[in-house]
Formats: sequence, structure tokens, C-alpha cells
Amino acid sequence: MIDLRSDTVTRPTPEMYDAMRAAPVGDDVWGDDPTVNAFQHRLAEKTGKEAALLFPSGTQSNLVALMAHCERGDEYIVGQSAHTYRYEGGGAAVLGSIQPQPIENAADGSLPLEKISAAVKADDFHFARTRLLALENTIGGKVLPADYVTKATDLARQHGLATHLDGARLFNAAVATDTPLKTLCLPFDSVSLCFSKGLGAPIGSALVGSQALIDRALRWRKVVGGGMRQAGVIAAACQHALEHHVDRLADDHQRAERLAKALHDLPGVELAYIATNMLFVRFPHGQATPLTAWLKEQDILLDPLYADGKTRLVIHRDISDSDIDHVIEKIAAYFSRR
Ligand SMILES: Cc1ncc(COP(=O)(O)O)c(C=O)c1O
Repeated sequence: MIDLRSDTVTRPTPEMYDAMRAAPVGDDVWGDDPTVNAFQHRLAEKTGKEAALLFPSGTQSNLVALMAHCERGDEYIVGQSAHTYRYEGGGAAVLGSIQPQPIENAADGSLPLEKISAAVKADDFHFARTRLLALENTIGGKVLPADYVTKATDLARQHGLATHLDGARLFNAAVATDTPLKTLCLPFDSVSLCFSKGLGAPIGSALVGSQALIDRALRWRKVVGGGMRQAGVIAAACQHALEHHVDRLADDHQRAERLAKALHDLPGVELAYIATNMLFVRFPHGQATPLTAWLKEQDILLDPLYADGKTRLVIHRDISDSDIDHVIEKIAAYFSRR
């Protein structure tokens, strides 16, 4: 199968399995797992934060971050298209009693500064207390411009807000812009990172921030059922991904570019955009679903109508150059038969 639905579909490599098998483990709820402790320590260093905490998923890491920043009756400012708002079951409201204040993302994924300012509520008991600004980088594959991030987080601080970054794919942003991870994390009070997307771990995310924030997050992680026992097997996979799978994200970006260019050249296929490891295309009206069904018979998987009538194709470490050639050939074959 050539699976282009997401970068979450990767399988662990034999070397990653070896690292997981060899990991010394203990009970992490007791703080006894040496592999988890070492991983959290190294990740905190690498991101320039005081502390890190391992999570089973990015959804839980984001949720716990919001709960660690905000209390019942607080609100967080977030993009309409942000994962924490749109694709995490409304967890902040459902489980955290935190009101989201969504605002429309601009085309580049940013939240316009004037809209952020306008969304901050006055200190008045009629309103929820605005506490936090949450951004996402990359968002829909797009890297947030560095100067925008500086301005938005400065603005948040001027309003007395904390800042959280959903950095599920921050490694893609770091590689695409040749920027140290630490630099991208610096403007934020907390950052959630995922190891089970382009980095290829089977499971695992982490939250980084100040020691005080991570102490609060540890409590909430337990509450939402994220305390794991011999979690060193997971931390070992994440550590392996951190050491061996980051630089190669550049290959995914190049392959995405090549696929985008080839699809753009096909008559009738409109390239909406390409950014890092994701491309979004519009196939001729009514064609996305039958094309996807036909490609499935050829062992190629797509998510036909991801959003706004666009098909999303995601490149990851289990997609090779020859897979890209094969996909181009099959999509061209489909349209040449019509
Ligand atoms: C931007 C973003 N944030 C967070 C998540 C949540 O991660 P998980 O699937 O590990 O819960 C995802 C998942 O795809 C994501 O794309």
C-alpha cells in the first residue's frame, strides 16, 4: 500500500523496534522509568525549556496544556482551522471547562493580530477570562512566518495571555526553514510535539514548558488517564526518531514538491498549494471519490475530500521516490482514460 492519507500511518523501522526492545523500563507513574526520564530530560534541553512530559497522543498533550494554562471559566484564543479546536472533539470545553474563542485563520495559517486583540475580553464578570493564545506550526503543512510568531506572542504577553503552540509538525517547520527547534519553541510558554507523525514513532507526543507548568500538566495527565506504566518502550521510539528521523524530513518535502509539480501538469488537476510534506489538490468536479476508489484498487490510499473540496496528499518516511513515480503514473493513467 502507498498510503498518502496522513503521515501518521508510518510503521516503526527495525532499528526503532530494536531501540524499544533494548530500553530499560520502570513504572513511569512512580517516576521510575529511566528511558522516559532520560528522554524528557533531553527533549527539555533540545527545546530550551525547563521540563518535558511524555504523552500517548498529541490530542492529550494539547488538552493537558490547555488545562494547565487555563482554569474553569477561562477561554483560549485559537484558529477555526486549528487541530485543538476543530479536530480534538472539543476536549478543552468538554473536559477542561475552557471556552474556545475561535477566530478565522488567514490564508497563511496565522491569526490576524487585530483579530487577536479584538477577541481579548475586558475584565468583566459577564465575560469568560481570556487566558491563552494557541497557535499551530506547521498548520495544514504551512510554516508560520517567524516574524509573525514574534509579533503574535508579544501581543499575547501585552494582553497578559500565556502562549501555547501545537507543534505536532514543528520538526517539519524546523527542517524546512533550517531553524533550530529551540528557536521555534522560544516564543511560547508551552509546546506540544508529536513523534508519531513524520518522525515515524508508533505512538508518543510530549509537552515542554516551565517546571511549574509541567508539574500542573503531570496532575492533569493523570486525571485524563495518560499516566502510563512501562512507557520506556514509547520513549525509546521517540528518542530514536529524534536522533535519526528529523533531518530526513527534507526528503519528504522534496518528494511532496515533485508530486505537486507532476499533478499540477496534469490537465484538469488544480494544485491548491504545497507546503512542507503536504499538498492539497482539486480534482475535476465529482472525480475525487471515484478516483480514490480506483486508486485503492491499485493499492494507493488517498483522503478524497479532506476539507473545502480539496484532496490532501501527505508524504512521509514510508513513501519512496519510486512510490511517487508510481502515484504520478496511476493518476495520469486514470485521467487519460476519461
Ligand atoms: C496539528 C495536529 N495537532 C495535534 C494532532 C493530534 O495528534 P494525535 O493524533 O496524536 O492525537 C494532530 C493529529 O493529526 C495534528 O495534525
